[in-house]
Amino acid sequence: MMAWCSSAVLILFLQAALNVDGTSLALADHTTLGSSNTVILREPPSKLFTNISGMVDNHGMCQCSVYLPDNSFPAQQVEKLEITTEALSIRVETELSKIREFSKAIEVYELKIQNLTMKVESMEKSSVSYTELEFELLKVEITEMERLVSQLKDTVIGSNHIVVQLYQEITNMSATVQKLESLDKNNLLAIRREIVALRKRLKECEENRNEGTAHVHVPAGSCNHGGIYNISKPYVIQLNWRGFAYRFGGWGRGYSSRDPQKELYWTAPLNPDGRYLEYYRIFTSHDDLLLYKNYKEYRLEYGQGSGSAVYDDFLYYNCHASGDMCKVDITNNKLVVRKNLPGAVFNNRFSYAGVAWQDIDFAVDESGLWVIYSTEVSTGNIVISKLNETTLTVEKTWQTRQYKPSVTNAFIVCGVLYAVRPINTRKEELFYFFDTKTEQEGTLSILIEKTLETIQSINYCPSDHKLYVFNDGYQVTYDSAFLPALS
Ligand SMILES: *[C@@H]1O[C@H](CO)[C@@H](O)[C@H](O)[C@H]1NC(C)=O
Ligand SMILES: *[C@@H]1O[C@H](CO)[C@@H](O)[C@H](O)[C@H]1NC(C)=O
Ligand SMILES: *[C@@H]1O[C@H](CO)[C@@H](O)[C@H](O)[C@H]1NC(C)=O
Ligand SMILES: *[C@@H]1O[C@H](CO)[C@@H](O)[C@H](O)[C@H]1NC(C)=O
Ligand SMILES: *[C@@H]1O[C@H](CO)[C@@H](O)[C@H](O)[C@H]1NC(C)=O
Repeated sequence: MMAWCSSAVLILFLQAALNVDGTSLALADHTTLGSSNTVILREPPSKLFTNISGMVDNHGMCQCSVYLPDNSFPAQQVEKLEITTEALSIRVETELSKIREFSKAIEVYELKIQNLTMKVESMEKSSVSYTELEFELLKVEITEMERLVSQLKDTVIGSNHIVVQLYQEITNMSATVQKLESLDKNNLLAIRREIVALRKRLKECEENRNEGTAHVHVPAGSCNHGGIYNISKPYVIQLNWRGFAYRFGGWGRGYSSRDPQKELYWTAPLNPDGRYLEYYRIFTSHDDLLLYKNYKEYRLEYGQGSGSAVYDDFLYYNCHASGDMCKVDITNNKLVVRKNLPGAVFNNRFSYAGVAWQDIDFAVDESGLWVIYSTEVSTGNIVISKLNETTLTVEKTWQTRQYKPSVTNAFIVCGVLYAVRPINTRKEELFYFFDTKTEQEGTLSILIEKTLETIQSINYCPSDHKLYVFNDGYQVTYDSAFLPALS
């Protein structure tokens, strides 16, 4: 506009000059201000059109001088203004194209944010379907977007509402993802990692089991073998569900005489005093046990020591501060039988070596329920009784010559009691047996590695021939290998 105005004024002015003087001027070369051919205006307006001197230069170009005072026609300022305007319009154009670019970019980012928001939302809804990898990808995407948007923010000088909002959204989302992830770390991811580790351990277990039983294959619940030949390395299954502070307790796989393949695991960590049995959990699958989920948790008032066992859906334990045996239905936690074990001592009279409150220790084998204890009459030596599991009456009793407080723990396999003693902090020895069928006892030597120093309990399960060991709060299993049956 400014440029057009000043040109028009000049043309009018030059036309007027031509009319007055009758001289032919090379107009085309002079209409543009700022070119090398200059029109110099010096005369006041009154005399302006009356006396103009001109001359023709070497190139045949006519040149003339006109005087025009600055205050009436500020040509130099016009010239400056025009330059400024041009520069300005170029910049306006540049800025406009930048904004067009940015709004395009913003559209793309908005789409991306919508996509990401959808992803995050679907993650929040279905907490099972996402993986760590998805989180990593998401985080990479979000970081990339944060970078782009902060670039954008720097380029658009001043506060651009859309960009600021975009930035806010991305920051929000990043926070959401982090929150989700940290939540997830506590359960799903941890569980996934645990599952991977567990799978690996299970595989090792499986391989080792095959190795261990290579001597003779014994079907679940069968006694067609010649006794224990060897014990495998320990397999740490998990820390008990109550944690490190609960070093004492027992656990095992419940044996069902009607359905030997049935899966049922019980865990009964004692209170930290190592005496009170108060809470126990029942798991109906190995996976649930490993994941600490889908369990039934019950409270007893109270059991004593870590000598409990589960047989045919009942938990048997030493009733607190007594020589009594308690039988609880694990499907509803009802106490169904409480019966005195004749002659049995209790309250640390003859507990096991290194483990207190375990004067009365229940055992399960292929033929049913047993109890391992001592009496004053036995002078602290191990007494074994076969129980009628329905009534808890003693069916038969055997006296051994093994002093109970010198053994770590004992268990029964196919009517043979096996006892373990400590060798050092890393090893135990299965050193003693008593066969209730032949009433013969003797020694053997099978070394058993242990992960931690103290073994609180050992429970044998006829279904899988494993020993379930509570080792300073850790639940550990061992496989047993058998000798071929004597025929
Ligand atoms: C016009 O200019 C010439 C030369 O500068 C001068 O001699 C003459 O007097 C001027 N005429 C008028 C009317 O001013
Ligand atoms: C958003 O997701 C759709 C479908 O997954 C895809 O086709 C599109 O390219 C995505 N847009 C952006 C900007 O990532
Ligand atoms: C970001 O989160 C804050 C607080 O949660 C919320 O007030 C704000 O509206 C969110 N902004 C956007 C752009 O989603
Ligand atoms: C018994 O098992 C242990 C542990 O797996 C092993 O080191 C040892 O060699 C085995 N002993 C025999 C006699 O097979
Ligand atoms: C256990 O005792 C009950 C009741 O006296 C009896 O019916 C049952 O047969 C006994 N069980 C065994 C295995 O002897």
